[in-house]
Amino acid sequence: MVDVILGLQWGDEGKGKIVDYFARHYDVVARFQGGPNAGHTLYIDGEKIVLHTIPSGIYHPHTLNLIGNGVVIDPIVLKHEIQALEARGVEVKSRLFISQKAHLILPTHRALDKASEQAKGKERIGSTLRGIGPAYMDKTGRNGLRVGDVQLAHFDRAYEALRKKHLELLSHYAFEENIEHEEAAFQDAVAYLRNLQIIRAEYRLHDWYQEGKRILAEGAQGSMLDIDFGTYPYVTSSTTLAAGVCTGLGLSPRQIGEVIGITKAYCTRVGSGPFPTELLDETGESLRRAGHEFGATTGRPRRCGWIDLVALRYTCMLNGVTQLIMTKTDVLDHFDSIQAAIAYRINGQETREMPFYLDENITPVYQHFTGWKRPISEIQHAQELPAELKTYLSYIENYLHLPITGLSNGPERNQLLRRVEKPIVN
Ligand code: GDP
Ligand code: IMO
Ligand code: MG
Repeated sequence: MVDVILGLQWGDEGKGKIVDYFARHYDVVARFQGGPNAGHTLYIDGEKIVLHTIPSGIYHPHTLNLIGNGVVIDPIVLKHEIQALEARGVEVKSRLFISQKAHLILPTHRALDKASEQAKGKERIGSTLRGIGPAYMDKTGRNGLRVGDVQLAHFDRAYEALRKKHLELLSHYAFEENIEHEEAAFQDAVAYLRNLQIIRAEYRLHDWYQEGKRILAEGAQGSMLDIDFGTYPYVTSSTTLAAGVCTGLGLSPRQIGEVIGITKAYCTRVGSGPFPTELLDETGESLRRAGHEFGATTGRPRRCGWIDLVALRYTCMLNGVTQLIMTKTDVLDHFDSIQAAIAYRINGQETREMPFYLDENITPVYQHFTGWKRPISEIQHAQELPAELKTYLSYIENYLHLPITGLSNGPERNQLLRRVEKPIVN
């Protein structure tokens, strides 16, 4: 069986923590899209680890970890990540598999990302500048280099040809940066990559599936950053939805079982783009402070606001979510009152559907809830949660017609309350 864990908002929902928690029930954890724009945080016994490319199952010794064809890999980042894990005593190389078909991020992709963002000025996407957009553009433009290419004789020639094309493109921008140092690091990292387990991942995944191994697909970014259904053009360049599991791993839709959607108890966004429930006041500031809302990859402050049920209803629909897990619920502990957007008012009309353009004409319609005003991080059984929080959860469940089966009440690995007896795995 293949289950999926993915984010339903604008990323940073706490996917890494939840994948790490459930990885104990799976044999394989597989990333299917995105690249080092992701920053997935794990807290294990007080120690903080941020993963960018490596799946969040890596801290479970029995779990195999696979980077699928849908992912774009920066060999420099991957090498550092493996070395950092090894320095902490984690065995990586024997348990990490990489699809031959995953595309490579070149230093010139990163330079193009920066040049393009600079040129956009005020209209910039707020990209993580990790080269994601340019790498996916080369993939769909049929110019890309793939991990499997590093093992072939033509690699140096193909790399040089693509690099030249990029330098030509860069010459059209007012962009001056010396990337020679990064190019040397890239060559070293490619040599390192050659010694990793580069495989025909689609076949191995199907073998594992046939053998009855349990596979967990780990999403990156969030559904509202999806290239098709997100707040375009302020999105990332991959399919962040459950559909991406099929194209990004070579699995079929019929193999997918549970789709576990992760949502924060409120909402954040990093980078530019519309965010209807954003709070630009002291309450937003208070959420940022309580939630330590600073990017795991770039360190940028995250924009904060109330939970948006219109957007969540949309992303649950698009993903075929079967159950929800709410994270960072403890961040709301000290609020007197809590709000949830249940509709948008646009030109005097109320709607529960996402409009084509999310712009300043949208006013969220809020449902108000009384805060529980006591710390919940120490609670170990869902039955002991405050009544006010239970009311909040029931409202959301009724609105979305989905159960919230788990509630995260702190960053540590085991701070997760299960709300139903039904095990998450099939
Ligand atoms: P991801 O990209 O979806 O994996 O999420 P990030 O790691 O970027 O951001 C989530 C942040 O929230 C991390 O710093 C986590 O350690 C933290 N976190 C996750 N779950 C909880 C929770 O339930 N409570 C609190 N207070 N922090 C949490
Ligand atoms: P995880 O997996 C939050 C945002 C960027 C920017 C937009 C495009 O940790 O949830 P890109 O670098 O992809 O070209 O940036 O998407 N973004 C994320 N925001 N979490 C992420 O990943 C993100 N990955 C990209 O801030 O607005
Ligand atoms: Mg993150």
